[in-house]
Amino acid sequence: MIKKRGMIYPYTYATHPFDVVGWDGYSYPYAFSIFNFEPITGRIHMPPPIHQQFEGHNFVICSFVPRMYDYHPNAIPAPYHHSNIDADEILYYVDGDFMSRNNIGKGQFTLHPAGVPHGPHPGAIERSIGKKETQELAVMIDPFKPLKITTEALKCEVKDYYKSWMTQEQLTH
Ligand SMILES: [Fe+2]
Repeated sequence: MIKKRGMIYPYTYATHPFDVVGWDGYSYPYAFSIFNFEPITGRIHMPPPIHQQFEGHNFVICSFVPRMYDYHPNAIPAPYHHSNIDADEILYYVDGDFMSRNNIGKGQFTLHPAGVPHGPHPGAIERSIGKKETQELAVMIDPFKPLKITTEALKCEVKDYYKSWMTQEQLTH
């Protein structure tokens, strides 16, 4: 039923609306696999919402999936440094090569609390230039309220993770 200017009209599709190769729009109330998710790509770097797959009233889920990188000849595929003031960012690295990170492997989680600046590791921006595509698979949850860390979670903390943005020169001085 479609509502227009206060009136309700019936509207019947000839086929199921999801019986298509590509669907750009709401998927509620259906669930679908990350392997069927296709982000929007562009000539220059696209903002993080292109990766958004699901949204609740207090969180979003973004899926980082195999895709073409930015294809302007002068584009830098690595993301820009940023601080997300609206949400914490929890990233789960599932598979593939994580271009913007130096020491992150499959199965690891990162947590960047809201407002804390973060971005590509040293050398990652330069390394990304000229790259055409990625095979990465990662899931990000952005809760709008601060995440509380359990003592169990603290046990698997990589204590010197914050140092991974420091260059070799900074580490030795
Ligand atoms: Fe971020």
